[in-house]
Amino acid sequence: MDVSLAGKVAIVTGAGPNIGSGIALALAKYGATVACNDIDADAAKTAVKRIERNGGTAIAIPGDVTDEEQVKGYLQEVVERFGRVDILVNNAALLGGKGVLDESADFFRRAVEVAALGNFLNTKHIGRYMAEHGIRGSIVAISSSNGWSGSAGVIAYAFHKGGVNNFVRAAAMDLAPYGIRVNSFTPTAPTPDNPELIAERGAGGVLERPQAFRHGIGGATGTESWRRPARWTGERMPLVPMGTTGTPTDIGHCVAWLCSDYSRLITGCDFVVDGGARAKNFAYAPAAVADLAGPAPLVPLDVTGELDRELSM
Ligand SMILES: NC(=O)c1ccc[n+]([C@@H]2O[C@H](COP(=O)([O-])OP(=O)(O)OC[C@H]3O[C@@H](n4cnc5c(N)ncnc54)[C@H](O)[C@@H]3O)[C@@H](O)[C@H]2O)c1
Repeated sequence: MDVSLAGKVAIVTGAGPNIGSGIALALAKYGATVACNDIDADAAKTAVKRIERNGGTAIAIPGDVTDEEQVKGYLQEVVERFGRVDILVNNAALLGGKGVLDESADFFRRAVEVAALGNFLNTKHIGRYMAEHGIRGSIVAISSSNGWSGSAGVIAYAFHKGGVNNFVRAAAMDLAPYGIRVNSFTPTAPTPDNPELIAERGAGGVLERPQAFRHGIGGATGTESWRRPARWTGERMPLVPMGTTGTPTDIGHCVAWLCSDYSRLITGCDFVVDGGARAKNFAYAPAAVADLAGPAPLVPLDVTGELDRELSM
């Protein structure tokens, strides 16, 4: 009883080197042919190369998810090339930003636009293609823990991820009559595990941001006397019951299963792979990581990356 996506064709939007690339790789490793979109053509091509060096089949379909003609264009390209589309992962998003006192209208507008039109236009045109061709497809929107609860310093992100969550439930109702499923997956600050990303940016996987871009949530970015801190900066208690919120590989396993026929009746739902982080009551502080048994070993997907890393050690 193996989960298999053999014969299925997937489109993953925003297939940048972290979560998008991880999901695209997972879909390929489970047998799907994958079309990797990104507004950054190099990011899309890099995701394709990662899939190919792991033995999968992929093409790059660069484009802006907010541009309807471009969405229709890359959908057509995928259909001409592979004859069908069974899976859509709406992953593209603008991360970061600032708090409500400091965010600019331009950033807020664009961040909301990428999430809103990205999810809408891709779900509309690819869902319509699936419906017209009798394909009982699976659509997965990538949300965030910030879509379910509040953090300081990410007001645009909180707004659009909250929107994504109910978009999924409504789109699930629209597409249920066609046998097409719509669900969300909620990442919770996974630890990057793409070897190329780590080689380029270090273990955290993020480029060091200038002070001015660090959230604007309190005294850190402003010297005004009225500013108050919004984030605890002292020693941190353990936050995650199982000690880790996992990696993009963990996300990929879950999304691949969600796109398989095993989940044929799952629609309008949200999934987390977060070591219990979201289930935790606010007043409960988990044990220290060193005292935990830890999760079962990760089943790796980037096999050549693992081998390369072992060889270079
Ligand atoms: N990294 C995290 O800790 C985290 C946590 C929770 C949720 N998420 C979500 O996971 C997803 C991926 O996050 P990530 O960490 O890999 O971020 P990322 O910034 O590395 O990837 C997002 C990609 O989307 C692309 N993109 C942006 N605008 C686009 C557009 N208009 N058209 C096409 N592509 C566009 C970017 O170029 C980028 O490659 C996002 O939806 C994000 O909100 C991430």
